[in-house]
Amino acid sequence: MVYTTIRTQISGPVARVSLNRPEVRNAFNQTVIAEMTDFFAELAVDGDLRAVVLDGEGKSFCAGADLEWMQRMSGYTFDENRDDAVRMSSMFEAIDRAPIPVIAKVHGAVLGGGCGLVSCADIVVASESCVFGLTEVKLGIIPAVISPFVVSKIGGSHARALFMTGERFSASRAAAIGLVHHVVPESELESTVARLAGELVTSGPVAAREAKRWVSMVVQMTKVEASAHAAQKIAQLRASPEGREGITAFLEKRKPSWIAS
Ligand code: COA
Repeated sequence: MVYTTIRTQISGPVARVSLNRPEVRNAFNQTVIAEMTDFFAELAVDGDLRAVVLDGEGKSFCAGADLEWMQRMSGYTFDENRDDAVRMSSMFEAIDRAPIPVIAKVHGAVLGGGCGLVSCADIVVASESCVFGLTEVKLGIIPAVISPFVVSKIGGSHARALFMTGERFSASRAAAIGLVHHVVPESELESTVARLAGELVTSGPVAAREAKRWVSMVVQMTKVEASAHAAQKIAQLRASPEGREGITAFLEKRKPSWIAS
């Protein structure tokens, strides 16, 4: 697929996808949704990648859904609107379920669906001047499609308060509620992302993917179920080629084979 609304780049083990509609603050419409979903589906089958960085061109990371597109859709039938929302949901699913770690690098406005994208990322680095908001109620709608991802990220308490007020909030509040992990001056966004990507590429390639998949399973299990599965999982990974190599390398005081010397 030739992309027109996102820019993609693969450099060694790290991919990058940038929302590229700066003139509308990277608001997403049906084309962005189709392109993002396609890109993340492609990533999922690339066994050599170790991380993907998601960011946005121009003044802001993402102003949420494109309101001109939303307005057009309001004239369509209920079924057409539902199918459209299902396609939007598939984009968030594709990011959330990406087998490799996703780092979101955000600046400027992060509103509505922009918070949805951030909620699907594993690691979020935000500029200290970012403005966040789940502002849908101000438009007479609610953050419905993004809610499974946002609520699982920030929990019901913060979701209730922020979904109802629609208030805009700072990067420090976003960090306090678990929506973002690192708040840095805008000039340090790229170096922070590079440092985190550097950490990811020194982790065992299989282990990093397994760690991500494991957390997504554990959050859906009871403690008893998780403990039972954990014993099996660690038994399997200790005896895996990567587990053996990582532990042997430590004991032999050398780098494991997956780190280029
Ligand atoms: N959908 C469609 N267009 C949008 C948009 C959106 N979600 N958000 C911004 N734009 C457009 C503006 O209409 C404007 O278009 P114009 O140049 O033709 O007038 C352009 O992007 C720039 O917006 P502007 O408000 O001038 O830029 P800014 O940098 O001062 O502010 C925002 C950026 C994102 C803070 C502001 O535009 C905003 O609050 N947007 C609404 C976001 C929102 O409510 N999202 C929830 C969607 S469910």
